[in-house]
Amino acid sequence: MKSFFLSDLFSFKKNNHKFAAITAYDYSFSKLFSKQGINVMLVGDSLGMTIQGKSNTLSVTINQIAYHTRCVRKGAPNSFIIADMPFMSFSTLEKTYSNAATLIKSGANIIKIEGYAWLCETIRMLTERSVPVCGHIGLTPQAINLLSGYKIQGRDQKTADKLIKDSIELEKAGMKLLVLECVPSHLAKIITKKLSIPVIGIGAGSETDGQLIVMQDALGITNNPPKFTKNFLIQTGNLNDAISLYIQEVENGIYPDQKHSFI
Ligand code: KIV
Repeated sequence: MKSFFLSDLFSFKKNNHKFAAITAYDYSFSKLFSKQGINVMLVGDSLGMTIQGKSNTLSVTINQIAYHTRCVRKGAPNSFIIADMPFMSFSTLEKTYSNAATLIKSGANIIKIEGYAWLCETIRMLTERSVPVCGHIGLTPQAINLLSGYKIQGRDQKTADKLIKDSIELEKAGMKLLVLECVPSHLAKIITKKLSIPVIGIGAGSETDGQLIVMQDALGITNNPPKFTKNFLIQTGNLNDAISLYIQEVENGIYPDQKHSFI
């Protein structure tokens, strides 16, 4: 089986081929996801909530992300793996280099960092040192204490303009991929069209290049799941078919529909 690289995601964007991504935290599920045809997996700091049962992601450590990245890589040797830099793991450049190196050595293809244009220098420095960076804007769960909860972002013109401007600056700094979380569909469409890098949406409507879903949401085992997620297991009754259905619905533009988007 061919290994999946960043260049494949750029080809998807160029050819208007929508792609499905999912969070993964362990060997068994990453193996199943890869077997069903998911090529992009995120070892997210959401593991603080989905695996550890915490109420937010703030206590997750770099060693925990590294451990889960190694598990996911073992099950999906050819997949494109995004690994999250947890809260405060990129507070200084030295810390950022060392933590990013830990994730790449654990099997990640790219590291993901939450934040805005203030990250430009960090992204430039990492890219120069051969570490590709995926940005993450919109709802940034590591900022929960500033945002006062998990809320849709970019609803008013001023914040929407800032999201557009910062995404362009981040791309100029070298960002190679962007996760756009919980923003209105029309804003996600503008950002996706303005950037030449692939944009992966979660709660960002159907116009982004790719879609991401938290695996526990897709499999219906999250209490009070966000409105934009969908339980694919309930329709299919088994894990393999649930993941195949998720892929099919993303590739054919069926998920997310208006009911699962913010208009
Ligand atoms: O940690 C995570 O899983 C994430 C996604 C929800 C975007 O950052």
